[in-house]
This record gives sequence, structure tokens and C-alpha cells, in this order.
Amino acid sequence: MIKKQILSYTVFLVSLCLAGCFYRPNAQRSSLVTPTESNLIVVGYAQVGAESDWRVANTQSFKSTFTEENGFELIFIDAQQKPENQIKALRNFIQQEVDYIVLAPIVESGWDSVLKEVKEAGIPLILSDRMVNVEDDSLYVSWVGGNFVKEGEDSVEWLHNYLKEIGRDKEIINIVEMQGTLGSTAEIGRTEGIEKKIAEYPNFRLLEKQTGDFVQSMGQEVMEGFLKKYDDIDVLIAQNDNMAFGAIDAIEAAGLVPGKDIIIISIDAVKAALEEIVAGRINASIECNPLHGPRVAEIIRKLEAGEPVEKKIYVNEEIFDIKNAAERLPTREY
Ligand code: AHR
Repeated sequence: MIKKQILSYTVFLVSLCLAGCFYRPNAQRSSLVTPTESNLIVVGYAQVGAESDWRVANTQSFKSTFTEENGFELIFIDAQQKPENQIKALRNFIQQEVDYIVLAPIVESGWDSVLKEVKEAGIPLILSDRMVNVEDDSLYVSWVGGNFVKEGEDSVEWLHNYLKEIGRDKEIINIVEMQGTLGSTAEIGRTEGIEKKIAEYPNFRLLEKQTGDFVQSMGQEVMEGFLKKYDDIDVLIAQNDNMAFGAIDAIEAAGLVPGKDIIIISIDAVKAALEEIVAGRINASIECNPLHGPRVAEIIRKLEAGEPVEKKIYVNEEIFDIKNAAERLPTREY
């Protein structure tokens, strides 16, 4: 184990040395530094929170990648889904003179001032998972994440194909939609994709949409509300798995069978969702891959080596349903 760690650290350092030197973008730091244990690359990560299984897997991906063995010191901040905590975290990272800042923005708006401060401090900022809505895109170096619009579109396209398979494609289909955190890129993109596709099928009716903030307990509450209001719901599209888990509890409490009386489609495809697919309570889950730690480390490696980095990096994602969930469960990482 120790040998393996030494080997991976050595490989990382050698790849940096091959690039010529260790570049520190912060002007107050020396531009040529010898990589010793006390001179690790310091990365501040302002994380959204711990609102879902996806988020927990994402945090774990960063913590297991940005280790001392790999040449990093990680300063991890859980913003508890409060944008003001993320802004505070960024200002603290500036004060601590970190080498890189990674931000998974809770919402897209409100970033111009603090990102200008980060840029003025000479700290490269990498966006992970979600986007920011800023006038000047030089305020961030790179973004890596999922294609949220496509995830939304895929959920409705899957429904259309499934209804065809079961001979219900000519029926009027009543859909309720559970959105994630309003104003987040994941919610904005998925809502856009879902609604664009619903509009393409004349037999699909969107009864109502409401936010469950990506949280299981809120998913349950929102579904309870939908069930009180409508007695003809055919489909729930939940913008993440955890809200679907909450909705399943509400549907069962109302005496209905999730996955049968109400078709359930969710987004993320975490391990527990694949288990729900096998159990028949979720019909499909559209993957949103959370394993961004190594992807961000690769961006940093390129920056350290003076190599160009892509401005936007989209991650490939799959669709899971009863046809592939069981076979993929044993090797599912999150
Ligand atoms: O931004 C990605 C979304 O955030 C995931 O779908 C959700 O589970 C998380 O909270």
C-alpha cells in the first residue's frame, strides 16, 4: 500500500518535473519551487453541501484525489447550500494564498465581484459541476461537469420510448416535475431539457413543477402535495435520485405502487437508485457523474505544466433502467 502511494506520488511529481518547473500563478509566491512535502499544491474547494448521495460521492472523489501522497493539500469547505458561505470561503482562500480554487457554485448568479477578487489575487479558479453566470469568462480557467440540458432531454426521451414499449404511447400522460435548487445550473439545464422535450409530444401534459431543493425530505413533502392535489399523475420526473427516494415514500404512504401506478424517472444514477430500479420502484435514472476529483486534478496538472486547458469539459453519461441496472450494480462506484 505504502509502496503504491509512494509510486503514485512519484509519478505525479515526475510528470510535473518533465514539464520544466513548478509554476505558481500567485505573484507573491516563488515561481520556481522544489517539491517537498511542505510545499504541496494547496487547493481550496468550496463545495455546495451534503444534500444528496451524488454530492457525498463528489466530496469523496475530491478528498481521495487531493491527498498529500498525490502532492496536494486540500482545504475543503462545505457551504451547507448557502451561497453566502461559498463567497466567504473564496475570500478566506484568497487570504490563505491557496494555489488553486475549485468552486461548485450553488447558484449561477452573484459571482462577479468575488471572482474578480480571486482573479486579482492571481489564483486560478476552476469550476466543477455547476456554472456561474458572469459577464467576463476570464474569471474562471475551466469548467468540468455534466450536460444538464441533455440529462433533462434524455429523461423525457426515455419516457417516450418506454410508453411505446408498453403500448401506452397514444394515451394522455400527466407528468409532475420535481426540480432541484432553483437557480443552480443543474436545475436550469434539466428544467429546460425536460420542458423542451415534453412540448415535442402532444400527449404529454406537465401538470405542475415544484422545487425539492435536491433533498430527500423535501422530495417526500413535494410529492405528498402533488398527490393531494392530483389523482391522475402518470409520471414523476425528479431532477435527482434523492428527491425520487423521498417521493417513493410518499407514493407508498398514499397506497400506490411506485414504478407501476406512477412511473418514476430520476437523474444521477447513484448506486441506491440502481437498486431501486432492480426493485421496480424507479423506472429509469439518467446518469450525472460526480467523480470530478481526478478530472480537476488533471486540469491542475496541465496548468502546472503550462499546457493549455479546455474552457468547458463535458463528461459522458449513461442511462440506466431495468435492462442494465442489475448487471452494473456490483461495479458501481457511487
Ligand atoms: O449539480 C449536480 C446535482 O447536485 C446532482 O444532480 C444532485 O444530486 C446534486 O445535489
